[in-house]
Amino acid sequence: MIFFINCKGKLKEVAIGSRSKAIFFYNQSNYLCQKFTIHMLKVESLVKDFGGLRAVDGTSFEVKKGTITGLIGPNGAGKTTTFNAIAGEFPITSGRIIFDGEDITPLPSFKTFRRGLVRTFQIPKPFAGMTVLENLMMVPKGQLGESFWNNWIRPKAVMEEEMRIRDEAVKVMEFLNLIQVAEERGGNLSGGQMKLLELGRALMSDPKMVMLDEPGAGVNPTLLGEIVEKIAELNRRGLTFLIIEHNMDLIMNLCDPILVMASGQMLMQGSASEVQNDARVLEAFLGGVAEDGS
Ligand SMILES: Nc1ncnc2c1ncn2[C@@H]1O[C@H](COP(=O)(O)OP(=O)(O)OP(=O)(O)O)[C@@H](O)[C@H]1O
Ligand SMILES: [Mg+2]
Repeated sequence: MIFFINCKGKLKEVAIGSRSKAIFFYNQSNYLCQKFTIHMLKVESLVKDFGGLRAVDGTSFEVKKGTITGLIGPNGAGKTTTFNAIAGEFPITSGRIIFDGEDITPLPSFKTFRRGLVRTFQIPKPFAGMTVLENLMMVPKGQLGESFWNNWIRPKAVMEEEMRIRDEAVKVMEFLNLIQVAEERGGNLSGGQMKLLELGRALMSDPKMVMLDEPGAGVNPTLLGEIVEKIAELNRRGLTFLIIEHNMDLIMNLCDPILVMASGQMLMQGSASEVQNDARVLEAFLGGVAEDGS
C-alpha cells in the first residue's frame, strides 16, 4: 500500500512497510518522518470469560481516528466488559488490542491511561469529599508535589507546576460550564454534573481517545444537550470517541459509525439509518425486552 504524505513541506511517495495498520514512512533522505495509522483502536477476536460466563465472545471491530463511534446493544450484551478489557481493567481471556498502532493487550489500566486511552464509568466515580477543582487537579500523574522531598528541595517548581495544572483545570471547567461549582464537593453534584466532571477528568489527561460509558444515563435533557454539544466540539478539535449509550437520540445524532453488540458478539456496524433499518438489530433489542419481561 502506498501513501502520499507531506513531509518537511514536500509530498513524498514513501511506504516501506506495515505492521498491522501502522505504516512507516521514510523521506528521500531515508529519515523516518512519520508513523501514520488510520485506526485509533483495533480490537481483534476479543474474548472475556467470567468463570463459566462468556461476557465477550470473539468480538472484532475498529475505531477510526477522528470519529465518534457508537457502541449499542441490549443490557448484558458485553459493552462495558469490552470497555474494561480495552482499558486494561483486567486480563482478557484471548484476543488482541491495538491502540494507535501499538499492541496494548497486556497493559494494565494505568499504562493504557498514560498512552492516551481514557475511559469514563457507567456509574460516575468522583472523589465525593473533594471539590470539583480538586477532582480535576489530581488527574495529571507524576506531579512534583507528590514527592515529599520535592516539597522541601524544590518548592518553587512544585508551586509553578500546581499553578499550571490549576490553570488547565479552570479552562476545562469553563469549557464544560462547571466553573460555578468549582468549590462544590463531588458527592453533592447532580447526575449530569457528575457526568460532565467525568468528561473533565478525562480531558485533564490530554487523551488521544475517550471511551464514554453511558454519558447520557440519568442526565436531564438540558444537560444532555450540553454534553452532546461538548463531545461534538471536542471531536471537531480532533479527539476520537467511542461511546456506549442507550439513549438512541444521542447515538443517532452524534455517532458514525455505530457498532451493535448482542450476546457478547458484534452483530453489525453501519450508519444511523443502516442500523435503524437492520432486522437483526431490532430482533436483538426486542429479544432483550422480552427477556426482561417488559
Ligand atoms: N465482573 C463480573 N463478574 C461476573 N460477570 C460479569 C462481570 N461483569 C459483567 N459480567 C456479566 O457479563 C455480561 C456482560 O455484562 P456488561 O456489563 O458488559 O453488559 P453491558 O452490555 O454493559 O450491559 P448494560 O447495557 O446493562 O450496561 C453480563 O451477563 C454480566 O452480568
Ligand atoms: Mg454497561
